[in-house]
Amino acid sequence: MFRALASVLLCCFFLEASFWVHFSYGDLTTCSGIVPMTERGDKISITDFGGVGDGQTLNTIAFRKAIYRIQHLRRRGGTLLFVPSGVYLTDSFNLTSHMTLYLARGAVMKATQDTSNWPLIAPLPSYGRGRERPGGRYMSFIHGDGLEDVVITGENGTIDGQGDIWWNMWRQRTLQFTRPSLVEFVNSRGIVISNVIFRNSPFWNIHPVYCSDVVIRYVTILAPPDSPNTDGIDPDSSSNVCIEDSFISTGDDLVAVKSGWDEYGIAYGRPSSYITVRRVTGSTPFAGVAVGSETSGGVENVLAENINLYNSGVGVHIKTNIGRGGVIKNITVSELFMENVRTGIKVAGDTGDHPDNNFNPNALPYVKDLMLKNIWGVNVQRAGWMHGIENATFTGICLSNVTLQGTTGPRPPSWNCNAIRGAAIEVSPRPCAELTSVEQSGSCASHS
Ligand SMILES: *[C@@H]1O[C@H](CO)[C@@H](O)[C@H](O)[C@H]1NC(C)=O
Ligand SMILES: *[C@@H]1O[C@H](CO)[C@@H](O)[C@H](O)[C@H]1NC(C)=O
Ligand SMILES: *[C@@H]1O[C@H](CO)[C@@H](O)[C@H](O)[C@H]1NC(C)=O
Ligand SMILES: *[C@@H]1O[C@H](CO)[C@@H](O)[C@H](O)[C@H]1NC(C)=O
Ligand SMILES: *[C@@H]1O[C@H](CO)[C@@H](O)[C@H](O)[C@H]1NC(C)=O
Repeated sequence: MFRALASVLLCCFFLEASFWVHFSYGDLTTCSGIVPMTERGDKISITDFGGVGDGQTLNTIAFRKAIYRIQHLRRRGGTLLFVPSGVYLTDSFNLTSHMTLYLARGAVMKATQDTSNWPLIAPLPSYGRGRERPGGRYMSFIHGDGLEDVVITGENGTIDGQGDIWWNMWRQRTLQFTRPSLVEFVNSRGIVISNVIFRNSPFWNIHPVYCSDVVIRYVTILAPPDSPNTDGIDPDSSSNVCIEDSFISTGDDLVAVKSGWDEYGIAYGRPSSYITVRRVTGSTPFAGVAVGSETSGGVENVLAENINLYNSGVGVHIKTNIGRGGVIKNITVSELFMENVRTGIKVAGDTGDHPDNNFNPNALPYVKDLMLKNIWGVNVQRAGWMHGIENATFTGICLSNVTLQGTTGPRPPSWNCNAIRGAAIEVSPRPCAELTSVEQSGSCASHS
């Protein structure tokens, strides 16, 4: 038995090793290097702890025991927890530091649908309450709080949230607390998530909040287009987050950079900064690349490039609100291709939605330096809808080399702007007057 296990693990040492080598190819810019990869000396399998991958057995105790063992034995270099091929039903559980959760080819970790037992945790301080419902919130299916050096990887095994039961509670308005994310890291650093398929999250898929040094690459994230709030990846009050080479098709924004909301987010004051998103492909009824709408801690230094969107609602969406406060600054989106989308570029200073009535109506967001360049769209219904806030005009907006072609028909896509200021160079169709006045051309120069 032990020998068999050893050979299984040996096979995976090998796969894992070849897999890391694969990471550094050519001169393509990649996230590698942001989080140093640790080869785990110690490897254990979930089956050692009584795990059964028959799709029926509840494996909660096995996962909790395995994690307990990793946490308390603290092997040098950390421990790899191997999940072999099979379907492992489990309740939510916490990860620990210095570990790799490794899903073999054919391994599926399935969240239980017994929502009555789902643990509740405290609201995030930058939200003051659950995002959907007042009070606490359900803990994410796979959770990490205060951790460092954690890897979730493997051979494209699946983490399945079985979210339909939660989506139905949302639709029927029977949710008591905010739905769980699929994977959430709070206050953690040195996180890598790669080569995993995420399916049917109850709520947001991957949520790093108050984190730094996070790499997410080679992931596939899938949820039906009508699944509510199934955002793909939401870096939230986090810095140095690098997302690349992934396919995301969900019911809400593919990537949305956030930082808390209204008086809670302002008081907590933790921005998101240095967020990179590249080579992401997907579709959504909402936005491909989004900032907001929770931006109270500020969002700065975001670069999204080489994005391909199909059959989607919005290409780029910068969204905030009165009462949010916060600074949104230095956001660049380039090399974005979109096909069959409703609105190419959307900027909205009034997305609505407040945690409660105690927000400060004078806390206006400050939005400056949005660079949107080398953007190409076909079958775009509306080129741009860009509305800042009266008395808080959004400035330094630069559109450069943006071509958005309409659907075949008599009317070309249009621009609709208000309370924004900036410049446009080589933009088709011809944009709104707010972007074409000569004295604004500096908006494009300042970015270069
Ligand atoms: C898991 O982590 C959460 C948040 O830190 C904590 O409230 C909860 O007690 C932990 N659960 C277990 C079983 O350790
Ligand atoms: C896993 O999926 C990624 C992204 O789709 C792909 O690049 C990679 O080759 C796959 N790896 C394996 C071991 O199948
Ligand atoms: C803007 O953000 C990019 C990262 O996206 C960063 O490299 C650059 O230094 C930032 N510029 C300023 C002026 O902070
Ligand atoms: C304009 O953008 C397209 C991609 O949308 C790119 O292929 C082309 O090279 C860009 N042109 C210039 C002059 O940068
Ligand atoms: C904008 O500022 C003017 C002058 O201070 C004020 O009268 C008006 O109410 C403000 N508008 C909004 C929407 O806050």
